[in-house]
Amino acid sequence: MLASGRGTNLQAILDAIAAGSLDAEVVGVFSDRPEAGALARVPPSLRWSDTPAGHATREAFDAAMGDAIAATRPDWIVCAGYLRILTDGFVERFRGRLLNIHPSLLPKYRGLRTHSRALEAGDAEHGASVHFVVPELDAGAVVAQAVVPVAGCVDPGALAARVLEVEHPLLVSVLRLAVSGRLAERDGDATLDGHPLFMPLRLDSSGQLAPFPQNPQD
Ligand code: GRF
Repeated sequence: MLASGRGTNLQAILDAIAAGSLDAEVVGVFSDRPEAGALARVPPSLRWSDTPAGHATREAFDAAMGDAIAATRPDWIVCAGYLRILTDGFVERFRGRLLNIHPSLLPKYRGLRTHSRALEAGDAEHGASVHFVVPELDAGAVVAQAVVPVAGCVDPGALAARVLEVEHPLLVSVLRLAVSGRLAERDGDATLDGHPLFMPLRLDSSGQLAPFPQNPQD
């Protein structure tokens, strides 16, 4: 897990693992901010952090973090509120195993201030996306999205809180697919059970991802 902030998405994953609803293990939390709240959510042995200012280049920082990540031999690397743009070298090193949760309905609103931009545009719907990471910012294949209505949210903070509520089940649901070996990236597309998704899965009102085949033979 890569995180720069408070780590509520990380906590949702830890809770799902503890509840037995996600068959996974968090093998490390990596941060560019030693004071990040996310780090405190796991035992000290799982924490890695460093300050980019102590490295000559962005590439050098990402190489150091990448080596620390590789040493934990993760199956998947998940960015959840990791606020630095990853260098191309880092992305290529872990490509196909690197997921990010982004608070917008991609391809709308890549980058920052997504909630303000959705409000300014007068959008009726907003939400969150989980996507594979590619070198171009927030441009990788989208695996799944969760949609919320904008109505009633008068400021970006209120809208962010509404989106965050669906981010947690969205990320956990996608990770269930990932850890069970059903999810992959092929030729820039997200695939489920070997088939291109063509469009993102959606989190439905019961917190399930739909549509996707219950039985891959069907
Ligand atoms: C989330 O809204 C995520 O989508 C965004 O940063 C926020 C992280 O929240 N990229 P948290 O640190 O998981 O609480």
